[in-house]
Amino acid sequence: MAFYQTGLIRVPISVMLYILACITVTQEPIRAVPPYISSTVAPETSSPGVNITLQEGCTSQTIGGCLQNLLEQIENITAQVLPLNTVTDILTVAFNASEKILESSSSANPTELASYGNRVLKTSEKLISTLVKPTDTNDSVSFTLAAVEGRVFMVGPQVAFEKIPRLDTTNSSVAIDLIGIAKNNNERSAAVAFMSYNTMENLLKPDFFKTSNNTVKTMMSTVISATLPKTTNTNLTKPVNFTFKHIREFVPSGSLSCVYWNISEWIVDGCSVLKTNSSYTVCSCIHLSTFALIMQTSHPAESDSQLDLLNLVCVIMGLVFFSLALLTFHLCQWSSGVNNVARINICISLLLAHLLFLLTQRFLSLIRPQQVLCAVISGLLHFLFLSGFVWMFIESVMLFICVKNLSQISSKKREVLSSGFLCVIGYAVALVVVCVSVGLVPEGYGSEHCWIKIEKGFIWSFLGPVCVILVSNTILFVKIIITLSSKLTNLNAEVSQMKQTKIIVFKTLAQFVVLGCSWILGFFTKGSKVLEILFLILNSQQGTFIFLIYCVLNDEVRQQYKKFFRCLFCVKQH
Ligand SMILES: *[C@@H]1O[C@H](CO)[C@@H](O)[C@H](O)[C@H]1NC(C)=O
Ligand SMILES: *[C@@H]1O[C@H](CO)[C@@H](O)[C@H](O)[C@H]1NC(C)=O
Ligand SMILES: *[C@@H]1O[C@H](CO)[C@@H](O)[C@H](O)[C@H]1NC(C)=O
Ligand SMILES: *[C@@H]1O[C@H](CO)[C@@H](O)[C@H](O)[C@H]1NC(C)=O
Ligand SMILES: *[C@@H]1O[C@H](CO)[C@@H](O)[C@H](O)[C@H]1NC(C)=O
Ligand SMILES: *[C@@H]1O[C@H](CO)[C@@H](O)[C@H](O)[C@H]1NC(C)=O
Ligand SMILES: *[C@@H]1O[C@H](CO)[C@@H](O)[C@H](O)[C@H]1NC(C)=O
Ligand SMILES: *[C@@H]1O[C@H](CO)[C@@H](O)[C@H](O)[C@H]1NC(C)=O
Ligand SMILES: *[C@@H]1O[C@H](CO)[C@@H](O)[C@H](O)[C@H]1NC(C)=O
Ligand SMILES: *[C@@H]1O[C@H](CO)[C@@H](O)[C@H](O)[C@H]1NC(C)=O
Repeated sequence: MAFYQTGLIRVPISVMLYILACITVTQEPIRAVPPYISSTVAPETSSPGVNITLQEGCTSQTIGGCLQNLLEQIENITAQVLPLNTVTDILTVAFNASEKILESSSSANPTELASYGNRVLKTSEKLISTLVKPTDTNDSVSFTLAAVEGRVFMVGPQVAFEKIPRLDTTNSSVAIDLIGIAKNNNERSAAVAFMSYNTMENLLKPDFFKTSNNTVKTMMSTVISATLPKTTNTNLTKPVNFTFKHIREFVPSGSLSCVYWNISEWIVDGCSVLKTNSSYTVCSCIHLSTFALIMQTSHPAESDSQLDLLNLVCVIMGLVFFSLALLTFHLCQWSSGVNNVARINICISLLLAHLLFLLTQRFLSLIRPQQVLCAVISGLLHFLFLSGFVWMFIESVMLFICVKNLSQISSKKREVLSSGFLCVIGYAVALVVVCVSVGLVPEGYGSEHCWIKIEKGFIWSFLGPVCVILVSNTILFVKIIITLSSKLTNLNAEVSQMKQTKIIVFKTLAQFVVLGCSWILGFFTKGSKVLEILFLILNSQQGTFIFLIYCVLNDEVRQQYKKFFRCLFCVKQH
């Protein structure tokens, strides 16, 4: 949650939306198309009088005309009932030809494609209606082709059940009260034809869904059509319910619309989303025709590119200061009485984490297809950010021990001895958390941003430990301040050491507030632009704050810097 909202992630969201937009807008890759060989369907034996052929010598230039002719031949069919294999053969040829239309770049005009789509829909509905045969009880016919799946269900006067039938195709299904409809007919019979078109979205593009707000539209389901062929009274007794399986990844910020196709556009009238979860949506409609599920997501806004730039600059600036702080800590080893181990490791963990995060998000489009790499990166990020927090906790614990027993503050030997041990703890805790998470929910790693997946609460493998550490640190600091103030009243000796300790406590507290608060803020950024920008700045400037607190505001370090620059100056003068 928190991380998903982070400013740092703005870059990948826009990248992702761009990719989504591309998938939506571009068609199938255009291949070199050989001249089409005419193919004859429907051998005489299967159905006399039905001879549907694709014209001779169709090429990518003339395929549009060939398809028109083919569809006209189908429209000219007069037979009321056709055998299943004739229908599937004709459909195969028709969809084969309509796919060729898409491959030929010359006729990529969307309006033209939509008009082909209309005719393909109409002829398919006509063809499938020829599968309906009179029945006394109930009957069904179904077929599954590469491009289209069809289900026909018929009931007659002696139907023996009351249950609402449900017709299923691979990725969608329909529930319609056919029994009720049959009862309203004089013949007491009715039939429903349900078709799911796997490639129709290329003709009836989601961009034909016109809305007032300018959004990116993505087809989330196959295009389906439901009709009541050879049924006199087609008035619905109950709304018809369609269950769509999402054929693309659902974006939680997107909004879903159940739409139907009316000649030249997708419109919502009479359809509504009944219920939805991440992988299925149920639509309810009060009429029948051709339907689909379209998701709207906001465009990668123009103003966001400024935010992206701000983000990039901030993160790089943070990284530079992290490095400067590390360099300074390395040079600050002389400073007696100060244990830098925790501080150095906070810097190392966060520097690596921010760097890895920046690189991952910049090259997301390259990394994302490599599932394993993506998961490994998200595991590594989890480990690095967590160890940053563990080190922050260790620093507070060390400070607490120092304050409890002020005399130990300068026993350098002890600290040097323990720093190896500290390193083991500092990194082992984070490693254990990551290992346990991998062991329990391996699929929790590698979201679309190569971070931990937000769904199913797996993000708590990060937020959980972070919250525990933030709470523990708060308690520790309250204790430290209480101890310090009581020592201050009791102790008169060692005033200078006292003063030094107070400064260290103050600085560590400041560091905790800066590092901890930037993450806490992450919980509240939802929807607020100002908070988002604030979070972006605070979170990316962790290195800058550490540098300010420990290096710029440190007398001793300042002295060393002065010496260093004076030396540089001397060298130049010689
Ligand atoms: C089908 O039509 C083609 C020409 O359109 C013709 O050559 C062929 O003989 C016909 N077949 C039958 C069985 O009518
Ligand atoms: C369809 O029928 C009409 C007349 O009913 C005819 O003019 C037309 O040529 C036929 N089309 C084809 C492709 O057979
Ligand atoms: C589809 O078209 C290709 C030519 O591009 C052809 O080779 C193939 O046989 C056709 N398939 C059917 C089922 O007609
Ligand atoms: C008719 O309906 C019954 C009960 O749902 C079902 O078991 C049977 O398979 C159906 N018959 C046909 C031909 O679909
Ligand atoms: C569709 O769902 C609505 C709401 O749950 C229900 O009232 C209706 O009867 C359902 N229709 C069918 C055909 O099941
Ligand atoms: C179907 O419903 C409409 C109103 O929704 C009504 O005017 C019409 O008479 C109905 N048809 C039949 C056959 O009941
Ligand atoms: C059904 O949806 C899945 C994605 O969820 C897709 O991979 C598959 O191709 C779809 N099947 C059909 C027949 O459209
Ligand atoms: C389709 O659109 C036309 C005009 O845009 C409208 O008259 C008609 O009622 C619409 N059809 C349905 C089923 O809403
Ligand atoms: C989503 O809803 C569908 C049908 O409504 C159900 O089968 C599926 O289990 C649900 N999935 C989740 C993750 O809740
Ligand atoms: C677009 O506007 C409609 C209402 O007009 C709203 O329900 C929907 O959430 C908006 N979509 C986006 C992505 O802003």
